[in-house]
Amino acid sequence: MTGGAIIYLEDVTVDYDGFKALSHLNFFMDRRELRVVIGPNGAGKTTLLDVISGRVRPAAGRVIFGHATDVTRLRENDIVALGIGRKFQTPSVFVNLSVWDNVELSLKRHSKGVFAGLWESADAADERRRIAETLERVGLAAKAGRQAGVLSGMTDEETARTGELLMAIAADRSVLVIEHDMEFVRQIARTVTVLHQGTVLCEGPVAQIQNDPRVLEVYLGQRKETHAVR
Ligand SMILES: Nc1ncnc2c1ncn2[C@@H]1O[C@H](COP(=O)(O)OP(=O)(O)O)[C@@H](O)[C@H]1O
Ligand SMILES: [Mg+2]
Repeated sequence: MTGGAIIYLEDVTVDYDGFKALSHLNFFMDRRELRVVIGPNGAGKTTLLDVISGRVRPAAGRVIFGHATDVTRLRENDIVALGIGRKFQTPSVFVNLSVWDNVELSLKRHSKGVFAGLWESADAADERRRIAETLERVGLAAKAGRQAGVLSGMTDEETARTGELLMAIAADRSVLVIEHDMEFVRQIARTVTVLHQGTVLCEGPVAQIQNDPRVLEVYLGQRKETHAVR
């Protein structure tokens, strides 16, 4: 039993020829949670999504979806059928798309969106009603026809709107976002998970995370490395 969790990774290790992209990772997300995962390059963020979506099979550990479904035993298509969707970071998708279209896209499986996501499955027939209800609930109904904006190079207003949009989706689904832009993370995040060397470095409210000396250290370390290779 995993209580209210939508996804639960227990002691997950992903091994690439001896290199551990994920190392004894424990990660837990609640239903209808909007979680942001950050971390320096090579931290294991993409691998975490690969494991959840079944693209990569861990060498050890369990990945439990819902109550007791171990997705590490399933094929990618079966995982999609469970309602776990994945969106790749393609900011251009947001260009010229309305708020409504973005929510709709995000709810559709196999569609591309601006963020990586996972959510509970929904009856397709209910989808339009659910989009409308979701937008209504978070006060975006009047803006449904407006363009959502692009993630990179967004104005403050566009950033805020995109953040609202993500929150709208999370009001109905569980959403996992991999994000690099800390300003954007501050706008949307309640809980932030910081990955480093394939494991959770720390986890907590964004205000706490951004002042955590361990987080500053791993990001500074990354900058030093960048300088070193120049
Ligand atoms: N297919 C692979 N083969 C070997 N090493 C890999 C492979 N995929 C990722 N890695 C390594 O695993 C680590 C984590 O990668 P990744 O999950 O992409 O990190 P992030 O998305 O946080 O930058 C990196 O050091 C990366 O080089
Ligand atoms: Mg990555």
